[in-house]
Amino acid sequence: MSVLKTDPVLSTRLPRPHLGHIPGPRKFPFIGKTISFALDPYGTYSDQVARFGDVFRMSVFGETWVVLAGPDALEHVYLNRDNIFSAQHGLKAFAPLFSGGLLHRDDLDHRAHRRVMQAAFRAPVLENYLHLMNGEIARLLDEWPTGEKMKFAPAIKELTLRLGAKVFMGLEDPAEVARINAAFVQEVAATSALIRKPLPFTKMGRGVAARKSLSDDFRRLIARRKATGGNDFFSQLCIAQNEDGQTWSDNDIIDHFNFLLIAAHDAVTGALTAMIWALAQDDHLQESVRAEIAHLPVGPLSYGDLEKLDLTNRVYREALRRFTPSAFTARAVMADAQWQGHHLPRGTKVVICPGPVMMTPEIFPHPDRFDPDRYTPDRAEDRVHKFAWSPFGGGAHKCIGLHFSTIQVKAFIVEFLRRFKLGMEGSDRPNWRHIPTPIPTNGLPVTLWRRQAAQQTP
Ligand code: HEM
Repeated sequence: MSVLKTDPVLSTRLPRPHLGHIPGPRKFPFIGKTISFALDPYGTYSDQVARFGDVFRMSVFGETWVVLAGPDALEHVYLNRDNIFSAQHGLKAFAPLFSGGLLHRDDLDHRAHRRVMQAAFRAPVLENYLHLMNGEIARLLDEWPTGEKMKFAPAIKELTLRLGAKVFMGLEDPAEVARINAAFVQEVAATSALIRKPLPFTKMGRGVAARKSLSDDFRRLIARRKATGGNDFFSQLCIAQNEDGQTWSDNDIIDHFNFLLIAAHDAVTGALTAMIWALAQDDHLQESVRAEIAHLPVGPLSYGDLEKLDLTNRVYREALRRFTPSAFTARAVMADAQWQGHHLPRGTKVVICPGPVMMTPEIFPHPDRFDPDRYTPDRAEDRVHKFAWSPFGGGAHKCIGLHFSTIQVKAFIVEFLRRFKLGMEGSDRPNWRHIPTPIPTNGLPVTLWRRQAAQQTP
């Protein structure tokens, strides 16, 4: 019998394993590396790998984790061939926010739910989302200021929220959009909470209250969508069926949609922020991407045109490498196991590290350099290892929104570069904070010029 299965109320208490045999620092077991990891996760990782090797123990956020470094560990854990790594138990700390979401399910239960969700990501449905996005992105970008400095990071967050209200939920009523967005922002903020219990007056406490408020809104929306239908994402989840023609219960729809919104929002805004950061400081790259877009037929971006955007795609891929939205992830070991000669007892929490792997100089030479040509067929640095480049994860839990996000990113970049020329002052080059998702600490000040005016401006 499989040791993996979703635990409906997460009641299984895993043993707290003895990990003294795993190399790692001895001091401060509770605080451990929390502060250095929160401030500099990549530096802390390289430092510990240099001291202890590819398997080491680290205490962060009040728990002791075993970090499995390198691309082989990504392959081993993501592909989970022995079916012993549980996503639900590994990510238990986030259960108050995301329980019931796809990433918080395991094995057969996960597979059954994922198959239903797949219906909302079929090509004809994605084509329709693109159509919805094109118009809305154009409308929202027309509101952006030109000829003066603006902070791109908060602006793209706001735009993505408003776009999500339309494409994900089909909402029109501004009061409803504002209420849902406000609750959503509280819920996202809770993902970076240092205190992981939903106590009153804490970030996590506010996040859990926000989840409750969102659930109430989603329940009302289900009733409306079941009555009248719609072509937005939420409507697709309401009608999604398994092979036996069964749809999800209202509670399942709510849980899945709640997780999906978070999974989609932060990652896409992060990727777009990193792309704009790169384009703003490299005029040649910016003009080359614009030239590629100029070869597309005039008018809204069509589904068939997406594939023609080769350079845009490589810039996107490089942005996902350089500032990957999900640099670390966790699993729990559900049966005694071995990895690289180390015993991992049942109950061990492991961390795998796609972000640091993508910044390894042996895989991607000069990893700090933003270089979209890494992915050209003659260099193919991403092909050195199956998991050299894995911003979308892998195995059963590989990102289900991979194509959706690519469409959204390309739709935005096409509308944006058709409209604006983009510049950034040297003194505004940002520092980045990497977790929970990468963000430029100064908000990324840039200036946009309308294209016709851009010819005369700088
Ligand atoms: C640039 C954008 C995105 C990135 C980099 C990204 C990254 C990831 C990663 C790394 C995972 C696996 C996490 C793990 O195994 O621990 C994941 C899972 C997931 N993502 Fe994304 N994501 C993106 C956009 C989206 C979008 C737009 C959606 C939805 C529309 C989405 C929905 C999901 C869902 C539902 C899962 C869980 C899949 C499962 O457990 O089977 N993601 N994503």
